[in-house]
This record gives sequence, structure tokens and C-alpha cells, in this order.
Amino acid sequence: MKDEVTREERVDNLKGMGCSRKRVEDARFTQGKGNYVDDVKLDGMIFGDFVRSPYAHARIKSIDTAAALEVPGVLAVLTAADLEPLGLHWMPTLAGDKQMVLADGKVLFQGQEVAFVVAEDRYAAADGIEAVEVEYEELPVLVDPFEALKSDVVLREDLVAEDGSIPDGAHGPRKHANHIFTWEAGDKDPTEEVIANADIVAEEEMYYHRTHPCPLETCGCVASMDKVNGKLTLWGTFQAPHAIRTIVSLISGLEEHNIRVISPDIGGGFGNKVGAYPGYVCSVVASIVTGKPVKWIEDRMDNLMTTAFARDYWMKGKISATKEGKITGLHCHVTADHGGFDACADPTKFPAGFMNICTGSYDIPTAYLEVDGVYTNKAPGGVSYRCSFRVTEAVYFIERMIEVLAIKLDMDAAELRRINFIKKEQFPYTAALGWEYDSGDYHTAWDKALKAVDYEGLRAEQAQRVEDFKAGKTRKLMGIGLSFFTEIVGAGPVKNCDILGLGMFDSCEIRIHPTGSAIARLGTISQGQGHATTFAQILASEIGLPADSITIEEGDTDTAPYGLGTYGSRSTPVAGAATAMAGRKIRAKAQMIAAYLLEVHDNDVEFDVDRFVVKGAPEKFKTMKEIAFAAYNQAIPGIEPGLEAVSYYDPPNMTYPFGAYVCVMDIDVDTGVPEIRRFYALDDCGTRINPMIIEGQVHGGLTEALAVALGQEIAYDDMGNCKTGTLMDFFLPTAWEVPNYETDYTVTPSPHHPIGAKGVGESPHVGGVPCFSNAVQDAFRPFGNTHTNMPHDHWRIWKAANELGLHG
Ligand code: CDP
Repeated sequence: MKDEVTREERVDNLKGMGCSRKRVEDARFTQGKGNYVDDVKLDGMIFGDFVRSPYAHARIKSIDTAAALEVPGVLAVLTAADLEPLGLHWMPTLAGDKQMVLADGKVLFQGQEVAFVVAEDRYAAADGIEAVEVEYEELPVLVDPFEALKSDVVLREDLVAEDGSIPDGAHGPRKHANHIFTWEAGDKDPTEEVIANADIVAEEEMYYHRTHPCPLETCGCVASMDKVNGKLTLWGTFQAPHAIRTIVSLISGLEEHNIRVISPDIGGGFGNKVGAYPGYVCSVVASIVTGKPVKWIEDRMDNLMTTAFARDYWMKGKISATKEGKITGLHCHVTADHGGFDACADPTKFPAGFMNICTGSYDIPTAYLEVDGVYTNKAPGGVSYRCSFRVTEAVYFIERMIEVLAIKLDMDAAELRRINFIKKEQFPYTAALGWEYDSGDYHTAWDKALKAVDYEGLRAEQAQRVEDFKAGKTRKLMGIGLSFFTEIVGAGPVKNCDILGLGMFDSCEIRIHPTGSAIARLGTISQGQGHATTFAQILASEIGLPADSITIEEGDTDTAPYGLGTYGSRSTPVAGAATAMAGRKIRAKAQMIAAYLLEVHDNDVEFDVDRFVVKGAPEKFKTMKEIAFAAYNQAIPGIEPGLEAVSYYDPPNMTYPFGAYVCVMDIDVDTGVPEIRRFYALDDCGTRINPMIIEGQVHGGLTEALAVALGQEIAYDDMGNCKTGTLMDFFLPTAWEVPNYETDYTVTPSPHHPIGAKGVGESPHVGGVPCFSNAVQDAFRPFGNTHTNMPHDHWRIWKAANELGLHG
């Protein structure tokens, strides 16, 4: 048979891997046709909302709900006393701790859920909240983790034995009533010895402030209990719908097959929607009690003040080197503020996430990390906002330590990085703190980045600027921010990564329809990353059907195979791999069908773009479309009808994307206003599925990095009042603050991933924060600055300049 289209046209027609295919999701989003949780409207639906604590630490003397129950439209008010008989007044957290669903005797942070008012509409619920009378007795407040570790004030009385002794926590012995865990990695004594005997040692303390992912859509759910059929349906902003189903089953006692969890469109997640919140539990209980669908949606203040925060890491480092700048040892201690409950969303065995990636991109022979988790009177959560499990903190730490060491060595920081990078030939590389990096070519990426920005030219310009400043010719300093990061994404091998015992594999199920189109369902859930676009591209390349003929569906536990969801940039490394593997199963069966149809042996046909071809006879072929039809319409001896496959993928390792970023910034020392003149970002995420989506991910991640580095903060006063609970105070960058990013790439495939892809979504945030921060710090380096803490808002930059005596 003669083919009328060229091979190149056939490849283009697939819109497979490597193609900047336009996002298929955008048609509905740009036309206002998205279906978010708050768009779910059911017959007879009622609404729930919380009475929240105004105090950060207080005993609850009494709760009087009588007046609230008189408010027109209010149907019920739930308190811990109502939930206790059901065993639902506390719930397990992802970190092995437990958390109050509704205040049980005391409150531990401002905004904590005290009572749940259920009403006919939102307004009646709000009026009901006003009418609930709670008598509080204020208790001393601890917002400083160092004070908390010394204080006699016990925050978690439930975790202290009657005789005053302190039982072990989920992660081993606890040193104090307000201490949660100590987590160690590496070799303590050898590291301390290396550092004690080193030529050069640089030390620094840094605070990676508390911030918040602040997704555009807040958290919420609609719970609908069908009492006739015994089925519970739960729509919600869930980044891990299957895990939520399992948790709901375990804590409610409902059998898992009677629970359907649906994550519809989600307006951003960034880690904020991984954990379980009291609102989910209360909505489910309210729906079971009333037999009506119950909706609970946070407002912006609820979201910022009470749901999963990020960071809050106090890091203390020592780094040693030879006089020539070869790093010999790294020591890191972290005091981690977890708030009132430890509700961090980390794999169970990693209470400090993957902080032990803090040796970064460098060949550091000896290292030691110790993390102490501490309770304070702040909101719980501790997700790592757009970052897989504390990698942002780790990369910030090492990229600051490198800069501080460069100052101590009086060496160029770019050169210091270059001489310490892990070399290409050292991969797979086992780091001193345990990880096995899969692949990398750091020198090539670094050289490309420095050349692209004319690094030497920039340094010359900067030197001239310093001269001009000293001569009174300018009031603007110039900072060159550098960062080179290694990410660790794709949790993870089931052998060491689980959440509440659920192994962190992921899944894809494909059904090819007789006419040669398909539906693939995955255990992940997009929150804006474009999975419907990119996973179809993986399949298009693997099975030879156009991406436009493949529907991707996620987020419905009744239809999708079990998976652990989307966070920590795990979708591509894990579910992307499952997709490729399921595609390969389809292809293997298609090969047998093609061989039968072409009347040759299976091994005599080979896959070519969108068809199987007889080897050596390219005119003899069967397209995947023809094969699909035959699978359903032709009896083929020895082969079952149909063309379907499912794959559950347990990755052998994580993937280690990396990147080289440079930021050029001008700083007005009199106003403290930074102006980002240039931002260059080179990312290496292995095989690139959709370059346009990658670029979008990089833009988004860098913008969130800018926010965190230059102003975004969840701050508390001494009384534990959250000072930044609205968007008036919490910095969310707009187009006004965001520079024009220049993106670039290298490609170093992952050797163990079926298509060589690594994750990318979190990389720009991980690499971006130290890059913006280093630019600020670098501007002040010639005047004696070693380190100032983020966020570098105008006031803090002005203050830094003032402390260096730059205001005359
Ligand atoms: O888990 P999450 O979706 O947040 O992160 P990811 O795996 O890094 O993927 C983010 C988006 O970038 C997805 O649409 C991926 O398919 C896409 N991507 C890509 O096109 N090529 C890569 N090598 C990595 C991700």
C-alpha cells in the first residue's frame, strides 16, 4: 500500500513528545467553563463554616451553642463533644501525629477550628458563627521555637504522660515536651573532625521564613451521603484523591468501596491541598447526620491563617574547604517550627522531608545533618510549597553557604561552584547524606549559563558600579545572584517512600476504542500543570495514536486506578513512567495483532511512528488505527479481544533535575527597592515532553520564588496573632513586579525513567529563591555583607543598607 503522507508529517500529526502542543485544558478555563469545587451545586445542599479561635493558646472553658441554634437557617452546631463519641474529634496527620478536628479542651493556634456551624446558606452559617459563645482562658503563647524548647509551658498536654515523662513520638525520642523529633543523616563525628581541622571554615545562621502556597482557589469540599445506597461522594480540592478516600474510610469506618472521591478542576495546589483538614471531616459528619450534601469552602483568611504553611526553618551551617576552595565538609542543624500539630506532608520515613539533599550539586565528601522539630502556637502544616519535601530549604541553605564560603576564601562564587560540582563521569553519584543522584552534567549547564549572561562582563560592570557608588555618582548598587540547584523529585521508590503506609507508586490505565481513539486514566491529578495535554503526548509517542485522539482523565477514585496523587513534581517521574509502561503493553499486544493481520511472525514487524511495518518491506504495514479496529472486530487466534492495559509503576529511584540560574538586580539603597534587570534560567529536566508547558512551569515557579525571596511571609506577633492573613499584607506578585524571564535548557535524560524524563514543576522555585536572595546579598557584598535573612522586602533591604552605613 502506498502512503500519501511523509514520515515527518505522520510524526507531526501525533503531537507526541517534544512538541509544544497547546494546552487542551485552556478552552474551558479561558471560557469560564472550569468546574471547581465551589461550582458543585447539589439539590438540597447546605453549608458549613467554622467558629475559629481568636487566641493562639487558650483553654476552652465552655462553648454555648444555644443562641446559634436560634439563628434562622442554622441547622446544627458541631463541637468536639459531638465528634468524640464517633472518635472523630481528633484525626491522624500525614506526619504520624494527630490533630484536633475541633478544639478539644484547648486551642493551639489562632484560627483553630472550634465549632462547625451547619446552615441553609453561607450567610446563615456566618450569622450562626457570631452567635456561638466560647469562653476562653488565655495561656502563655510560644511563637519562638527556641523559647518553646526551654519553656515550662506545655503545648501538647496530650503528648505528656501523667507522671510528667515524655513518651516517644512517631519519629523516636523527644527531648522536651514541646519537641517533636530529632532526625539525623550522615556522619556526625567524622564531619566535625574534618571541619575542626580544615584550612578554611565558613559559618552562617539563616532563617527561611514561614510562608504559604496561597493557591488561587482556597481549600474546600462538598460531602454528599446517600443514605439509601450507603454511598458517600466527596468532591474536594484534593491533590491525592485516592489517599483521601483511604483516610476517610479508615477514620469514618465506611467501607472504601462505598466512598467516591472526586477532585474536579483545582485552582492551584502547590502542596496546600495534600493533607486532610478538619473541614473535610466536619462536612462528612454533617452530611451523614443530616442526610444532605454539605459544602465547606474556606475564605482567603482561613486559607492563609490555618492551612498548610511552608518553611519556617532555622538553619545553622558550617562548611569547610581547602585554601584552594575544595569543599571538605558540611554541617547543618535545623530547628524546624511545625506549629501546634505536626501535619507536614512528607513521606513517613522522612520527618524533615528530603532536607538531606543539602549537599546540593557539590562533591562534598563528609556531611552531617540534624533536624529538630518543635511545637509552637502557630498553624500546622509544613508542606513544602512548590518544592518536594524541604528541597527548597536544602538548596537555599547550600547556595547561601557557598556564597558565604566564597567571601571567606575571597573567591569568585561562580568559580567556587565550578571546582566543587559533581563531575559528569561521577554519576550515578552517591552523596554523603545518602541519595543516589541519577544523572547530571553540571559543568556544561553552568558554562552555558555564564556565557549566556556574559558573566565576566557583568562582574566588570559591577566593579565599576561600586567605584561609582563610592565616588557618589550613583545611589544604585548592582547584585549578581547565582544559583545552581539539584532537585530530587519523583517520590518514590515504594521501599523507602510511603504516606501513612501507602507506597508511593503511581498508575495509568489505557483503553483504546475500536475507532482508534483512547482514554487514559491516571492516579495523579492536575492542578494547572497541564496533564491532559502532556500525558496524551507521552502516549501518542508510545502507541502511535494522535494526542488529539486521547482523553486523559484524573481525579475520580471510582474510575481512575489507585495512585498517590500530584505534589513534589512526582507526576512525570512516576505517573509519566506508568503511562509509558502501559503504552508499551498496548504496543506489545498491537504488535501481535499486526503480525497476524500481515501474516508474518511477531518478530518480523517493527513499530514506526503510528504503525507496525514488516521489516524490510515498508509498504506492508498496519496502522495503529487499523490494529485497534481489528482488536475489537476480528477473532484472532490466541489473542483476547480488546486493547487495554494498566501499569502500576514503582520507580527504582527518584529523578534529579538540575539548573543554573542568574539574576541581575539593581538596588536603590535609599528606598530599598530592587529592580530585576535580568533573570536567566537554564533547566535540565531530562527528556522534555512539552517545551511550552515546561516554560510555563518555569515562569510560574520563578514568580513564586520571587514572591518568597522578596516579600511573601506568614508573620506572627508575640501573642501569636497572624499579621499577614489577608492579601493586603501577604505579598502576591503581579505582572507589575515580575521580570521578563529568559529560559534555556540542557537535556540529560534520567537513565532509569522509561522515557528519560525528570520532573520540572518545582525546580524553578527551588533554584529561584536562592538566586533572587543571592542577588540582594551580592549587591551588598563589597560593603561587608555576608548574610541577611529573607524576605528581602523594601524595608529589610533599606535596613541592610543602613546597617552597612550606606546612608551616610
Ligand atoms: O507533579 P507535577 O505535575 O506537579 O510536576 P511535573 O511532573 O514536573 O510536571 C509538570 C508539567 O510539566 C506536566 O504537564 C509535565 O508533563 C510537564 N513536563 C514536561 O513536559 N517534561 C518534563 N521533562 C517534565 C514535566
